[in-house]
Amino acid sequence: MEATFNPPQLPTFVPTGLATAVSTPLPTPKNNVAAELPPPTITPQPIATTTVTQLPTSTPTATLTPTPISPCSKRIPQDDLFTIVTQTYGLSREYAPQDLVLLTDYLPVDVTLGFPTELRQIALQPLIQMIADMQSAGLQPRILSGYRSYAAQAISWDKWNREEPERAAILSARPGHSEHQLGTTVDFGSPELAGIVGIPDIQFHTYFYQTSEGVWLAQNAHRYGFTLSYPRGALEMTGFYYEPWHFRYVGEEMATLLLDLEMYLTEYQLLNQPEPCIP
Ligand code: DAL
Ligand code: ZN
Repeated sequence: MEATFNPPQLPTFVPTGLATAVSTPLPTPKNNVAAELPPPTITPQPIATTTVTQLPTSTPTATLTPTPISPCSKRIPQDDLFTIVTQTYGLSREYAPQDLVLLTDYLPVDVTLGFPTELRQIALQPLIQMIADMQSAGLQPRILSGYRSYAAQAISWDKWNREEPERAAILSARPGHSEHQLGTTVDFGSPELAGIVGIPDIQFHTYFYQTSEGVWLAQNAHRYGFTLSYPRGALEMTGFYYEPWHFRYVGEEMATLLLDLEMYLTEYQLLNQPEPCIP
């Protein structure tokens, strides 16, 4: 991909600099070696059928919770594949994609594990093709999470705050600040992970990058339009540690551009696009 690629659907307003975009205080990590993180052990709970009217009334109060920033409605339209979602820039609690499909209707149970995971239609065929090609290559990809509503993310956030309050802000997104709410993001798993980590049944761990599925995804996911959202070193800009299992669909053109530039989506956008808005 040439550097002259002109990403579609970029906003046309005048850039105002990046200061606000990168200056919001983020939780300070205890170290900067993602591989040394204790393994997250959450079980995916894609509560896809929860509606926004069932929002929990409690407010997370973790010590490291960043100051809440109101979602901004004047940014890139939320159905856009390139909507920025970070600890700084969030989605409204009302936002839910309108083209969600149930992956269990399209993928075998050994891939979905029977979870009622949903994803936007726009990412469905690329995902199906990628899974098929992985299986043809002898791999056993698992899909552990897809779309998560604002309410589902709130439940996940509460769980992390109860179980690991000091690290919740870097391991889990606050509700409204997860790319999973976009409906274009998938968490992948591997049957090799437990053996590599040495913990039975573990589903998420940084060592996913060592699994056959993790290696393949890192090398090939861009060909299907998926990009790694949180590579090593993305903490400062995204607020999240290395998550080698978390891929977001942005289309083949953008995913390939990012790979060629050795950049991740948020980095590319904050460096090349105007600040999304003043929250
Ligand atoms: N673990 C990622 C950051 C999320 O909760 O969306
Ligand atoms: Zn994820």
